[in-house]
Amino acid sequence: VSVLVLHGPNLNLLGLREPGIYGSLTLDEINHLLEQEGQTLQAKLSIIQSNHEGVLVDAIQNALGQHQGILINAGAYTHTSVAIRDAIAAVNLPTVEVHLSNIYRREAFRHHSYIAPVAIGQISGFGSQSYLLGLQALIHYLKEN
Ligand code: DQA
Repeated sequence: VSVLVLHGPNLNLLGLREPGIYGSLTLDEINHLLEQEGQTLQAKLSIIQSNHEGVLVDAIQNALGQHQGILINAGAYTHTSVAIRDAIAAVNLPTVEVHLSNIYRREAFRHHSYIAPVAIGQISGFGSQSYLLGLQALIHYLKEN
């Protein structure tokens, strides 16, 4: 299977950015862990980070016919982007939403996700482990369905 991994805005700053909330691993380190897990699970990953909503929408649209599923941390766009939600609904590819932090124990504006209703499920609060758990769940789902 082939999976598109999408990282939204400010996730390029991981390691520097509020390490008490997001952990000390850099995005490169997280991507390396994902690649290793992908190899173990015999999945091929394409990984994209963008700070731009439209670039993320384009990447989701381009996943059609290229990938079987999407793993996404949309960052702050989680709480604002109807466009990303609509793109996921449009391509109708199984999507797992992940967050490093537990968005439900933070500010109220982080409690709502536009992505959640179009995702198979969500993993939030386990730091970099959220990505690995999300990838495992997505690949398991793809193999079963
Ligand atoms: C985040 C949570 C979002 O609320 C925040 O805007 C982020 C990161 C997380 O992974 O915990 O950028 O998606």
